[in-house]
Amino acid sequence: MSKHCVLVSGGAGYIGSHTAVELIEAGYDVVIADNLSNSDLRAVEGVRQITGVDVPFVEIDCCDRERLASELFERYTFDSVIHFAAFKAVGESVQKPLEYYRNNLTSLMNIIELMRRYGRHNILFSSSCTVYGEPDKQPVTELTPRKPATSPYGNTKTMCEDILRDSVAAYGDLRGIALRYFNPIGAHPSALIGELPRGVPQNLVPYITQTAAGIRECLSVFGNDYPTPDGSNIRDYIDVVDLARAHVVAIARLIEGKNKENYEIFNVGTGNGVSVLELVRRFEEANSLKLNYKIADRRAGDIVAIWADPTRANEELGWHATRNLDDTLRSAWAWEKRVRGIEE
Ligand code: NAD
Ligand code: WQD
Repeated sequence: MSKHCVLVSGGAGYIGSHTAVELIEAGYDVVIADNLSNSDLRAVEGVRQITGVDVPFVEIDCCDRERLASELFERYTFDSVIHFAAFKAVGESVQKPLEYYRNNLTSLMNIIELMRRYGRHNILFSSSCTVYGEPDKQPVTELTPRKPATSPYGNTKTMCEDILRDSVAAYGDLRGIALRYFNPIGAHPSALIGELPRGVPQNLVPYITQTAAGIRECLSVFGNDYPTPDGSNIRDYIDVVDLARAHVVAIARLIEGKNKENYEIFNVGTGNGVSVLELVRRFEEANSLKLNYKIADRRAGDIVAIWADPTRANEELGWHATRNLDDTLRSAWAWEKRVRGIEE
């Protein structure tokens, strides 16, 4: 019997490459499609090396609908799509809103349109806890109201969720799940794939690992006067391999018809809130090193605190975060060392 095939758009990226590995290890065939706008072929090579499978890769822009049709939908028989392809830099989206709206909305709409044209059925969409804005109550459940986005990037996530919800409602043979990721961190235990930001990292953990590697002089902790126990922001840091595995169980739910609604939403987080200062301390302890950091001004637009209530994913998907934070922070450092050629 032929294996079920999954198209992974944006599969050369950070979360997509880890998900491709977990899908293959769970027995799926995978096709990776990516325009390499924020990634390179090393990630695809890493996926091939980890799995021992010569995963097909198609270099393509999901905004180019007719090329998507002829080079992906006509050539591969996937019935399921995991759609990661998007621009994701919050600050850049404020400077370049049209690029963000065009890329993130058009690519999703093209995928849905072609799924209809070619009779494909299951789609997972990469959403984000950013849709909750600054929540009134912690932890957030899927029923916590979404708030107006504070950046064009965040707005594309809210709008894409709505595009998916409305498409599923209108087109009876389409089933969709939006996974709302909290803060993905860490790398594959092999250190063959991981997060590779271009330029100065905007996210906390890559900034920490680059500081430890000596590429950045000093980490700025953005604010220690927030209304939290130690004054720094609180987030829910989810190991990227755990997050990848959530995609495997969510796509299986759709393939096996176990979904309760044709459009469903799941939070994917650990349920634990960790402050910036605590994360820095845990990174130092887990890796037996000292990090150069200082307290700096607050960063504009930062949420004070957010963490997930993952009960729905636990109960409905049977998914739980399994890796502990220290192992995750060790994997982030192991990846940075490998990329920079730092010896033990
Ligand atoms: P990433 O930038 O590493 O991966 C995205 C991939 O999509 C990149 O390889 C990029 O080249 C590709 N891409 C972008 N536009 C494309 C297009 N038009 N056609 C083809 N490929 C295109 O980012 P990531 O961290 O792996 O994020 C994956 C998804 O998860 C994104 O949708 C992102 O918004 C979402 N997300 C990420 C986070 C996070 O903190 N990393 C949190 C919540 C949600
Ligand atoms: C985490 C914490 C910073 C860098 C972003 C997006 C969100 C989602 C996840 C995609 C914050 C602090 C950071 C630094 C610091 N992405 N920090 N010094 O802001 O929670 O969320 O990524 O959907 O939409 O907004 O993640 O990693 O940028 O920051 O002190 O150099 O680390 O202030 O409290 P964030 P982050």
